[in-house]
Amino acid sequence: MEGIIVILNQKILMFRRRFVIEYKKIDKKDEKQVRDLIDVVLGGLERKEFFIPYEEWELNSLFDENYAPLHGAYDGDKLVAMAQLYVDQDMLKEFKEEIGISDKKVCELGGNLVLKEYRGMGIMTELHRIHYELAKKLGFDYVISMAHPDNPGSLRALEKAGLEYLKTSTVANGHLRAIYMKKL
Ligand SMILES: CC(C)(COP(=O)(O)OP(=O)(O)OC[C@H]1O[C@@H](n2cnc3c(N)ncnc32)[C@H](O)[C@@H]1OP(=O)(O)O)[C@@H](O)C(=O)NCCC(=O)NCCS
Repeated sequence: MEGIIVILNQKILMFRRRFVIEYKKIDKKDEKQVRDLIDVVLGGLERKEFFIPYEEWELNSLFDENYAPLHGAYDGDKLVAMAQLYVDQDMLKEFKEEIGISDKKVCELGGNLVLKEYRGMGIMTELHRIHYELAKKLGFDYVISMAHPDNPGSLRALEKAGLEYLKTSTVANGHLRAIYMKKL
């Protein structure tokens, strides 16, 4: 009986461990983990058009706070998800024009990547919440985001973050995107 309890306890411990996720700013010492996460998730996408691929200059800006604060979800030491809050107004110029808020201070939820085995557990919802609060704290007028119209997980996570659907447009050199926004 004791053995069974021990086995049961071990099972419970293993089960609980899977859900102990820590959310924090990603330190530069974890750059390799970030790049590996990007490679693994983008390499395994069911449809490549769901994610606008990173250009080299963007990868080189991953830890630039003036470009995009970066937060991650960790299972122990393992980085299992990441999200960025794009704050660079030059980079957001095209999207601000598309929405008609060029004169406003806008930030964008983006860089949303979760390892397959950790999806559907609310991890992106929590990372969005962290960035939404950060956007308010930094004094932005609007938070925006975009997702492919056929990417249900991404669309739902934006709705859960409180963003509202605005319209679907072709942006960033031919990418079809449902555009979401929220006035802060
Ligand atoms: C899109 C993605 C970031 C979502 O992350 P996640 O941590 O799984 O999202 P959450 O667990 O916070 O789920 C948010 C909501 O979406 C729903 N959802 C998640 N994946 C879904 C799917 N494939 N189909 C339908 N709904 C889904 C969840 O059920 C939840 O809604 P609910 O609370 O009402 O049930 C993740 O699936 C991913 O990394 N995909 C590959 C990369 C990608 O497409 N990135 C987005 C580019 S814009």
